[in-house]
Amino acid sequence: MNTSTDLSISRRNLMIVGASSAAKAATAADPSSTPSTLPPAALRASPPTSVPSSKLDLRVNGQAHAFELDNRTTLLDTLREHLHLTGTKKGCDHGQCGACTVMVDGRRINSCLTLAVMHDGASVTTIEGLGTPDRLHPMQAAFVKHDGYQCGYCTPGQICSAVAVLDEIKAGIPSHVSADLNVRPSLSADELRERMSGNICRCGAYSNIIEAITEVAGRRA
Ligand code: FES
Ligand code: FES
Repeated sequence: MNTSTDLSISRRNLMIVGASSAAKAATAADPSSTPSTLPPAALRASPPTSVPSSKLDLRVNGQAHAFELDNRTTLLDTLREHLHLTGTKKGCDHGQCGACTVMVDGRRINSCLTLAVMHDGASVTTIEGLGTPDRLHPMQAAFVKHDGYQCGYCTPGQICSAVAVLDEIKAGIPSHVSADLNVRPSLSADELRERMSGNICRCGAYSNIIEAITEVAGRRA
């Protein structure tokens, strides 16, 4: 009786015999053909020597910067890899977590979902531009006071988003939960939760984040 080892050897030998027979058959059909290890022509095409790039200017946290970037560079990678502003985090790189939120011309945006070349001449604010360790932005101070974070990975995006949310409410921009589009939205917890729903916190600091934003909103009101 065959053991499993016998069976696997037989199968291997079968494959070798099959492959060599196929090669012999191919050579017999076309005597001029020679065995080749080269890949198909499409795979042998030489790589492009240059990639499309563009010149652009950005004002980041008040400082002017001139770039020449591969057109495919996201705003997030421009900030992190070219300016070394690593406060803005790359969580998912797919627009699903909000860790990369920055403000472009005063409006929040997922910087992983937008190309830098689309923002030539724009003004970008990152977490580094909101405050400093010695002089925290009121929203940063409120996050510290209310323990609005644990690991802190989502926090720069949460804070940039929260600052922009209060400006959106102040400007009267409605959200999905606004009851009446003709009335200025309120600063309710429901409004804040809905507007912050694109910023995921894996540590679950949501209730503390809402407390922090509410405090800053109250101060402003
Ligand atoms: S890294 Fe941009 S949304 Fe997650
Ligand atoms: S504080 Fe850890 S993910 Fe939000």
